[in-house]
Amino acid sequence: MTRDGAPERRAKLVVLGQGYVGLPLAMRAVEVGYDVVGLDVDEARVKRLESADSYVEDIASEEIAEALASGHYQPSAAYADAEGFDVAVITVPTPLREGIPDLTYIEQSTASLGAHLTAGATVILESTTYPGTTDELVGPLLESVSGLRAGRDFRLGYSPERIDPGNKTWTFVTTPKVVSGVDEASLEAVKAFYDSVVDQTVPVRSTREAELTKLLENTFRHVNIALVNELAVFAHALGINIWDAIDAASSKPFGYMRFTPGPGVGGHCLPIDPSYLSWQVKRTLGTQFRFVELANDVNDHMPDYVVRRVIASLNARQRAVSGSRILLLGLAYKKNTSDARESPAVRVAQLLLDMGADLRACDPHIVESPRIPPDAMVELSASELEAADLVVVLTDHDAFDFELVERHAAHVLDCRNVPALTSSEVL
Ligand SMILES: NC(=O)c1ccc[n+]([C@@H]2O[C@H](COP(=O)([O-])OP(=O)(O)OC[C@H]3O[C@@H](n4cnc5c(N)ncnc54)[C@H](O)[C@@H]3O)[C@@H](O)[C@H]2O)c1
Repeated sequence: MTRDGAPERRAKLVVLGQGYVGLPLAMRAVEVGYDVVGLDVDEARVKRLESADSYVEDIASEEIAEALASGHYQPSAAYADAEGFDVAVITVPTPLREGIPDLTYIEQSTASLGAHLTAGATVILESTTYPGTTDELVGPLLESVSGLRAGRDFRLGYSPERIDPGNKTWTFVTTPKVVSGVDEASLEAVKAFYDSVVDQTVPVRSTREAELTKLLENTFRHVNIALVNELAVFAHALGINIWDAIDAASSKPFGYMRFTPGPGVGGHCLPIDPSYLSWQVKRTLGTQFRFVELANDVNDHMPDYVVRRVIASLNARQRAVSGSRILLLGLAYKKNTSDARESPAVRVAQLLLDMGADLRACDPHIVESPRIPPDAMVELSASELEAADLVVVLTDHDAFDFELVERHAAHVLDCRNVPALTSSEVL
């Protein structure tokens, strides 16, 4: 309550995009006391939100139900509902189109938001993008639509998202958040907003450093995964167990960080974000970002390598891929998520289907996949395992009963080195 007894006005937050990034932010903001409008152009998603039906794994449907019941969360497909906002956060997709950054979602959402921008408000971009997007694209677009000036009339900044779907230790709240602004006042406003929703903020000097931070983090992962993937291919050919070497190297308390091989990289970040950086380097400096190009090349070929190992395993038993019953465990790009975007496991499935495999696939987090015939999706059971000529572990979800796999599968190619699978062949 204010001093004159009137109810205190809650600050109004608008989150553009209610996906993996935007929905957790919206829920947290409701929890700490904002009036939140969750804007999404996907009307089907808005309908699901209105009926408290979550499609993002880290957010339980009950949490949405509570937010709706509090009267402080409004899912909407209408930009008119952004009217009078204090803070707006943009969390729309930033895909690649034919290898080139596609900023149309940022452009469209920014232009729609600009019509409702008023003096004193703060706009923050969270979508992953190349350095310069906030001050070269978002700022000028907001200015031209609203007639206001960034910095002078409204605050503008960038804060990269570090959400790790399925990670119970490092959540949106406990993971430090890098914050930035186009000027001092903007940085202060952006920092103040995130200080109210996360445990720790890390201010950086300008939006470009903040944009680069995100690309640096993802490129670092991408390159290191490519390093162990390429090493895994060579180690296998040399008869050396890469997993033992990785475990041993991980005992070094300094100067080493553990990364493990797998069937490739997937999701919305690793296969895409480093290319935003290499595209910008090429466009502005005319040179190639060789690490990114090489990492793309190595990681893109891992599904082919898995198929090569499948062929070798069947060949050792005088079998061909064509007609062999192959059971794939896991289609999501990483464990304990239902996210199959850009998943290398789906690519493996496609390659094997093209070669005539009698394919079955099982993923407790995914009921259907557009690239896999519905009747090929099965539940994990002793009979499915026994019927398979080869079982391939692509994603090591905790929900899989690997003891059952160990007991009932005759031949297993394990791309994740699952501890319970002691008698399988590893990648
Ligand atoms: N998913 C992750 O783990 C993750 C982690 C870090 C950063 N990011 C980045 O965050 C951004 C969003 O990713 P995401 O995974 O949440 O994507 P998502 O596809 O799950 O969600 C984005 C949402 O934005 C909506 N949208 C599209 N255009 C819109 C518009 N004009 N107005 C309002 N809504 C609109 C879409 O309908 C969709 O629901 C991307 O730039 C991504 O690279 C994602």
